[in-house]
Amino acid sequence: MLAVWLIGSLSVLWVIHVISLKKRFKGLPRVGMDPGFLGRKSNAAKDEFFHHGRRLMEEGYAKYKDTPYIIQTCDNERLVIPDKYIEELKNLPDSQLSFKEELLERFMGKYTKLDAVRGTNIHRDIVRQQLTKNLDMILPQMKEEASLALQRVLDFVQWLLDSAKGAEANPEAIIMKVLFLIVAAMHTSAITTIHALYDICANAEFKEELRAEAVEEMGKNGWSYKSMLRLHKMDSFLRESGRVNSAGVVSFQRLTLAPIRLSNGFLVPAGTHICAASDARSRDPMLYKSPTEFQPLRFYTPPTVTEYEPSGNTLFTSVARGDSWFGAGRQACPGRWYASAQIKLVLCLLLIDYEFEFPEGQKERPANWAKDEKMGPDMEQFILVRRRASHA
Ligand code: HEM
Repeated sequence: MLAVWLIGSLSVLWVIHVISLKKRFKGLPRVGMDPGFLGRKSNAAKDEFFHHGRRLMEEGYAKYKDTPYIIQTCDNERLVIPDKYIEELKNLPDSQLSFKEELLERFMGKYTKLDAVRGTNIHRDIVRQQLTKNLDMILPQMKEEASLALQRVLDFVQWLLDSAKGAEANPEAIIMKVLFLIVAAMHTSAITTIHALYDICANAEFKEELRAEAVEEMGKNGWSYKSMLRLHKMDSFLRESGRVNSAGVVSFQRLTLAPIRLSNGFLVPAGTHICAASDARSRDPMLYKSPTEFQPLRFYTPPTVTEYEPSGNTLFTSVARGDSWFGAGRQACPGRWYASAQIKLVLCLLLIDYEFEFPEGQKERPANWAKDEKMGPDMEQFILVRRRASHA
């Protein structure tokens, strides 16, 4: 009897909870299937997003450019925040809007051990500060060392040890943070480079322009971090490659830890997963002329005599725009200067020392795949590579 009463009460509580969850977005539009009362159609809605998430986000972007709307993704229901509100949100403190808690919830931090970064930021700070400040010094080593990955891991361990206090300094806590950094750094850098290689191969004429820039810069100023910053054409090319390829269908994924009122009056309740429609934004004709065209010099600013790095918000590493390759706001990627230098270095080495191209007859790059909120380059593409006879 007690068991029946207990199950009955729990069921009532659950129904009340589900109803209150539904009510929190009352009045907001929805894109895609509604999972329905008590989530009866939740699997069908998730399935729809898995296969057509990119199209749904595009639909939402076209319809509700200035209105937050709801969408069911494969893991949870999200509130999609239009560009103009991202500005209001992007610098809120962790206690209100959390990048980390969102990540840990979606990737089950407790079991995947990503929760090694809960309550600490030393892993982020050593990347933003020590790693970035030392780029000038380490770039020549990066070029010389084939065993570059190992060298960087040793740097990370040392910097983490220098920054860690109390329990954070125990070996397991340090190693977990190094693993977190490896997860954050490796596949992102690899994917960015693969997209760039595909885009270079698909733009053979521009490849020569990039090569000429690399040969000139390295010839004049050597393999240094400043030389990487002076590769203005390559910088624009990388930004354009990021724009047309998109790292994912959405970005700015955050969890609200406290209620947040938007300037239109809407109160985003605590516990809401929010995101931005970054992929759809990157093809907005109001923001980009001929958005579906790949224009390698779209973001190119000719260098000035005194300035080796053009300022502004169109650099590959700039995060001022909602569809930046490296996220937005306080939690934008702290490794972006390192990543940019590393990718430019790899591309320079390839352009200067190697010929590379798609197999004969192939002119276009392979299409990207999009599943759920994830997108990526085709991994089956072949590229033919041979060492150049001379560097001329
Ligand atoms: C091309 C390569 C890379 C890409 C595309 C990339 C992209 C990103 C993005 C999109 C975010 C989330 C930002 C947001 O939601 O606003 C992020 C966060 C992060 N990235 Fe990167 N990243 C790259 C390379 C790296 C590297 C090389 C490192 C370290 C050496 C790194 C360390 C991190 C860390 C620690 C965070 C979390 C920041 C925080 O907790 O505030 N990333 N990255």
